Amino acid sequence: MATINKNYKTLQAGYLFSEIAKRTKVFLEKNKDAKVLRLGIGNTTEALPKSVIDGLGLGVSKLANVDTYTGYGDEQGDTRLRAALSTWYKNMGVRIDPLEIFVSDGAKTDSANISSIFGNDNVVAVSDPVYPVYVDSNVIQGRGGEFKNGRYKNIVYLDSLEENGFFPKLPDKKVDLIYICSPNNPTGAVATRDQLKRFVNWALKHKAIIIFDAAYSFFIKDKNLPRSIYEIPGARKCAIEISSFSKWAGFTGVRLGWTIVPMDLITQNSKKGELNAMWNRRQTTMFNGASNIAQEGGLAVLSKKGQRESGEIIDYYMENARLIRVGLEKMGLKVFGGKNAPYIWLKTPNGLSSWEFFDKLLNEARVVGTPGAGFGLLGEGYFRLSAFGHRENVKQAIKSIQENLKI
Ligand code: MLT
Repeated sequence: MATINKNYKTLQAGYLFSEIAKRTKVFLEKNKDAKVLRLGIGNTTEALPKSVIDGLGLGVSKLANVDTYTGYGDEQGDTRLRAALSTWYKNMGVRIDPLEIFVSDGAKTDSANISSIFGNDNVVAVSDPVYPVYVDSNVIQGRGGEFKNGRYKNIVYLDSLEENGFFPKLPDKKVDLIYICSPNNPTGAVATRDQLKRFVNWALKHKAIIIFDAAYSFFIKDKNLPRSIYEIPGARKCAIEISSFSKWAGFTGVRLGWTIVPMDLITQNSKKGELNAMWNRRQTTMFNGASNIAQEGGLAVLSKKGQRESGEIIDYYMENARLIRVGLEKMGLKVFGGKNAPYIWLKTPNGLSSWEFFDKLLNEARVVGTPGAGFGLLGEGYFRLSAFGHRENVKQAIKSIQENLKI
């Protein structure tokens, strides 16, 4: 008799963004003529630049000719793309061998799947607030334990509070896998070199592994802030980095990302290269490689022109972030993030809960955002706005908040 994976039963409600979509739909059913302005999910909106479209087009046209047609490719990714990514890291001063790079269909998938190469007895640490995928994927694997008072018993939550710049505190007990996201989703906080150094040194000392989500690193303009964890000495021995073309190049729908598993990475019971081989084994078994069209597009993003043109779209979103930040500050709201990061994290006014503020913002200003409570216990009392959106939409949203939100 078949049985279910009971771990699913301990997952909380719906996935955060599905819940927001559901509530917005209910609002729109009741307010048929209302125009809702969406600053909720971090979903790219701007058209791709010509150089990247040409790359994607090249991928399509290759399929039209029997001499250039390709079917399944290497599960680890197109050799040219892995080499181009390796060069891109090299230009950043970071040494990554193409064999350490695994191209995938995105950072969300990889960040959910990566823990499968680690034993189920590993203790997982996440920041609080946290991108929900890190938690839920580990809960599904059985590493969560009982859910009580807003937290899973077996997961260690590292408080990311206003007083420590929303960067997680170092663990004060044994943990084995530590998820860090910088620039951070949801708080928009960006780790400094020193903050990352402390985690890398802690991980090296305690033989823990850091899973570093760098999906938003392209938004870092400040040269002093690290864009890759491998900028920190020793990180090759203790960190996996996951990144993506989604937010960098508007590939949220195209789907393309990558994960780096360095040869030097070791755990308590593994040798050099073993984790790389395990991730390779996992991918070759459960993944058939990223789309050849998307990978051709990825190569175009990595070209000089592609990087310049994609950078211009990043600048566009960052101007949105600035408009949101300044617009809210003018109203006297307490605002964080939005600098070197596309998320704006605000303290809800008058002690409102995150979901109360969600309803208020939707009803009064017709703006959809993301309740901080959806990212963890310590997200309660905060709210996230995303800078991904058309400029006109962002301007209208800020205007509507300024004119209609009663605070
Ligand atoms: C978000 O809004 O947090 C992101 O869009 C989620 C994601 O990238 O999966």
